Amino acid sequence: MAEEMTATGVLGGLPPLPRKPLNSSVIAAEQAYRKRKGLPLLTDDEIAALTAGTPMPWEPGGSGVVSAAGSAQGGSGQAAQNPVAPAALPAQNALSNVQGGLPNLPRKALNNSVVSAEQAYRKKKGLAALSPAEIYCLKQGLPMPWEPGGSMPDPAAVAAEVGSTAPAAAPAAAAPTAAAAPSASAALPLSNVQGGLPNLPRKALNNSVISAEQAYRKKKGLAELNDAEIYCLKQGLPMPWEPGGTSPDPAAVAAALGSAPAAPAASTQPAAATKPAAAAPPAMPSAPALTRTGVATRYVGSPAVGTSQAAAAAGVGTAGEIGVDADRTRRRLVWSCVAAFLAAWLLAFFRFFLPRTIFEPNTVFKIGYPGDYGLGVDTKWQQRFRIWVDRTPDRLFIIYARCTHLGCTPDWKPAENKFKCPCHGSGYDSEGINFEGPAPRPMDRAKVSLDPTGQIVVDVSKLYQQPKGQPTQFNDDGAYIPADKLNG
Ligand code: FES
Repeated sequence: MAEEMTATGVLGGLPPLPRKPLNSSVIAAEQAYRKRKGLPLLTDDEIAALTAGTPMPWEPGGSGVVSAAGSAQGGSGQAAQNPVAPAALPAQNALSNVQGGLPNLPRKALNNSVVSAEQAYRKKKGLAALSPAEIYCLKQGLPMPWEPGGSMPDPAAVAAEVGSTAPAAAPAAAAPTAAAAPSASAALPLSNVQGGLPNLPRKALNNSVISAEQAYRKKKGLAELNDAEIYCLKQGLPMPWEPGGTSPDPAAVAAALGSAPAAPAASTQPAAATKPAAAAPPAMPSAPALTRTGVATRYVGSPAVGTSQAAAAAGVGTAGEIGVDADRTRRRLVWSCVAAFLAAWLLAFFRFFLPRTIFEPNTVFKIGYPGDYGLGVDTKWQQRFRIWVDRTPDRLFIIYARCTHLGCTPDWKPAENKFKCPCHGSGYDSEGINFEGPAPRPMDRAKVSLDPTGQIVVDVSKLYQQPKGQPTQFNDDGAYIPADKLNG
């Protein structure tokens, strides 16, 4: 597998030889560029060579053997050639070594939403996606392995936290044979499930259809299509396990899908590939086979950012709980909106039965002492209480400022010593007696009295009238205050 991975032979956007050592940001950008252009991704050996500043294995002067320092960045190729520490390297291979948009140390434990957002951010910026080991550290609030104070977490704990299948694959990765050390992408077994695919005979399927099928399988918990199956579907061939199907040439699969060819044992005989891994005793229990170069990083198609497919393409596919949490959050948001709508509707419904109350000013009020008013008309309460205080030599009374025609408020014209209604021209003398215009009777007078302290109290809820042809009420008790009381 490692030998196959070193044979990409594509320079992509890398500078030609001789070149300086490249840092992880440049390599991540190159990977993103290759992914975008459909080129084969850099293998571990190539990454190690680029980091060390040496020619890649297939370049002039390249040996295919990477240094020990380079193996910290690369890995599976080195693992195949250096059986001394074969299991520790794949776990390191998957590390992004990039902080991206994460908060600085010391940082609190991050939840799935924050980790998902970080993955999406990295994908958008072309940075390397977080590996399961890094995700585990972030969720535990620990420094990532490459950060100060960080160390590689226990693979079993990582697998339990982010849903990775690393522990099962670790023993196989530890064995120094080609069959036992496949990369995660090549080791993905045939799904042997038709899922939502059309029956045979079927036409060649495009990337969109295959992406939809992968999403469907993920949603339904079915095994994902592996490279060989995807190749067959895109070629319009029966899949290896279907009637008339054969296992495709790994090189052709790699060329078509832009990935390393799968090991024949892994692509054609899944049972044989998984059995030794399951039966073999864990030779190196601490081997963190957490490589994340599987299907998730070779997702077919271009799903939109922000969807679960995009998250899978960004490498979150190995962290199963993240997608589940995102769905749960989305459902919670929808139900919250529905509940808010129903609550608002119910409130409006019950409000309908409540009376619409208009709060009017008090109809009984005090306007001061008789000594505050001289003879004649005083208009100072017109705006506030709609009254005029009218004092004559024999009495004090209150004219309610409402035209008896249609209810307009007349104006006091001191120069003409009369009230004049602006609406239809009714005229009233200084005591509110109508003498011109359509007004049918004099303006009404409000009830007035003196309280025990001698203040004038007005009650506009009680009005006295002088209807045409009927006895006047202007001389009733309460319609005025006689002069003797005013002076007393
Ligand atoms: S409302 Fe005053 S004259 Fe008509």
